[in-house]
Amino acid sequence: MNSSSHVIQLFSPLSHARLNEAGEKALHGKGRGTKERGFFGRVRYAPFFRAGWRVNSSRSENYGEAEFISARQIQSKGAPRAACRVGPERVKAMEENTAVAAGTAEVRSSEIEYSVKMTSISKSFEGVHALRDMHLEVRPGEIHALVGENGAGKSTLIRVLSGVYSPDSGEVAINGKPVTLSGPKDGILAGVSVIYQEFALVQHLSVAENILLDDFRNKSFVNWKDMYKLARESLQSLGFTDIDVRTRVRDLSVAYQQVVEICKALIRKASILVLDEPTAVMTTREVEQLFKLIVSLKEKGVSIIYISHRLDEIFQICDRVTVMKDGQYVNTVDTSAIDKHELVSMMIGRDLASYFPPRESDIGDVVLTAEHIRAGRAVKDISFSVREGEILGLAGLVGSGRTECVRAMLGIDRMDSGSVTLRDQRLRLKSTRDAYKHRIGLLPEDRKNQGVLLRLPIYQNITISCQKLIAKFGWIFKKREKAVVEQYIADLAIKTATYMNNVESLSGGNQQKVAIAKILAADSKVLFLDEPTRGVDVGAKIEIFKIINELVARKYAVVMISSEMEEIIGMCDRAVVIREGRSVGELQKAELTEINIIQYSMGVKSNVTENE
Ligand SMILES: Nc1ncnc2c1ncn2[C@@H]1O[C@H](COP(=O)(O)OP(=O)(O)OP(=O)(O)O)[C@@H](O)[C@H]1O
Ligand SMILES: [Mg+2]
Repeated sequence: MNSSSHVIQLFSPLSHARLNEAGEKALHGKGRGTKERGFFGRVRYAPFFRAGWRVNSSRSENYGEAEFISARQIQSKGAPRAACRVGPERVKAMEENTAVAAGTAEVRSSEIEYSVKMTSISKSFEGVHALRDMHLEVRPGEIHALVGENGAGKSTLIRVLSGVYSPDSGEVAINGKPVTLSGPKDGILAGVSVIYQEFALVQHLSVAENILLDDFRNKSFVNWKDMYKLARESLQSLGFTDIDVRTRVRDLSVAYQQVVEICKALIRKASILVLDEPTAVMTTREVEQLFKLIVSLKEKGVSIIYISHRLDEIFQICDRVTVMKDGQYVNTVDTSAIDKHELVSMMIGRDLASYFPPRESDIGDVVLTAEHIRAGRAVKDISFSVREGEILGLAGLVGSGRTECVRAMLGIDRMDSGSVTLRDQRLRLKSTRDAYKHRIGLLPEDRKNQGVLLRLPIYQNITISCQKLIAKFGWIFKKREKAVVEQYIADLAIKTATYMNNVESLSGGNQQKVAIAKILAADSKVLFLDEPTRGVDVGAKIEIFKIINELVARKYAVVMISSEMEEIIGMCDRAVVIREGRSVGELQKAELTEINIIQYSMGVKSNVTENE
């Protein structure tokens, strides 16, 4: 990239027409500076490949990147130069950073000691220290884990590394060279690619467009055939042949969206790849595929920073691990030198005896039965029932139709056929609200869009569904409300300065805890929990399990969807395995083993007859 090509692109007459009103907004809109822009990115629009297309990216956590893409699009489509605000100095700075990144392809491990060196990084938000004097050193070709409790500051550190936030103080050096990253674009140009905890995909665009946004940005005419082919190939290289590259991202399950994210980062050929909880919704098979890929990248000299709350994974693939607590550096150690218990005590400052708290099962009558549920393409024939005081697991691979089945049963999506019976009453639910009336609650998989109201304070989120408990005749008893909220904040260890804070100011795991508190407060008798511990740290996971155990002890019925097999085995009384939209097996507590679940979910075994 040189500055003259910029000028040519910027003045290309073709694109003037395409710089529509919305594009103007993206360029001139609030916060379109090079510095950190408010955390709560609003809706942004920009013209896209096709005239008249609009990109609407309201993903607040990662809007930085989405915005970068749209701004690049506008540049390449030729916005008037002034509008782009890319002065010669800026272009030079970008080129310098690019040179740093490009250099890394040739850099051999021996030439530089650290590909990432972050020194004394501090960052605070309205007086709250998210990072304090934090260090991170990552070697070339290393898989480096970053661990810590929810709210420890992992994602914030990564946002500093990728240029989304500028630190209050401290230095960042990439591939041996100090850099000043003043926006997400600088991070990408410096060779840092981040797969965020919350996705940064453009929901309205197809899989292929999302993956290849960057590569096709300088082309006036898009060769769709090439684009689809490239996208398909990159997905295939990850082992995902069943994702149609033309599908719009919003129609994909969360797990598949994650795959698209990874593809997008890989295609940029980053020298430093950061994965912020990539496996939170993946099952064993997908995780294996991802790991193979990560190891092959490592062999090519790429440095990988891996954030995960699944500690087994860290021991499986990471070379070293950096532990942080309350925004501060605790230690960096070789994973081979410690065990899981030592790591946990470094993270949370105490030992954990057992991950799954013991429970006496006292199972009663059947409460809810689902029979031959069919819905759309994903759900072909699913049947199961859950009893009072029972935790029923729905196991299966990602995309097997578990989430879709529950959504159809509760009336969120259309159910084509089948029946849902609550005790003796046949239900025809139309919405989650309808379900709540029957005291059936759902913790949705997609927390960000369905689980919590990001812009409302924590307390309102928690009490929104338990108004009966805290209000009478339209009058809210503030004291009672406060007591309920404080109890949940304490029980689930939600890390926040005050319950008046908006949910979007919380770390990923803490947002999940608010979503859980909300559904628990609603006091439903039948609970559907879709990935309840997604992104939640080990200490809090145990708290959540304890609460679930208390509920079943009080005769509540729980249906739990989890991609972590360990969780299904450790928590459930019984599990139904779903494969390709059908319930293919039922496993009693004694039969709940990893090998059994895998065999059923991959089609090696089946006891389907009972459903037919
Ligand atoms: N924009 C912001 N405004 C206010 N507080 C913020 C903001 N971003 C982060 N924080 C706070 O900084 C702290 C660290 O958050 P961060 O998201 O980095 O945690 P994390 O280690 O990634 O946690 P998790 O494992 O839950 O994802 C949290 O207490 C969070 O509430
Ligand atoms: Mg995080």
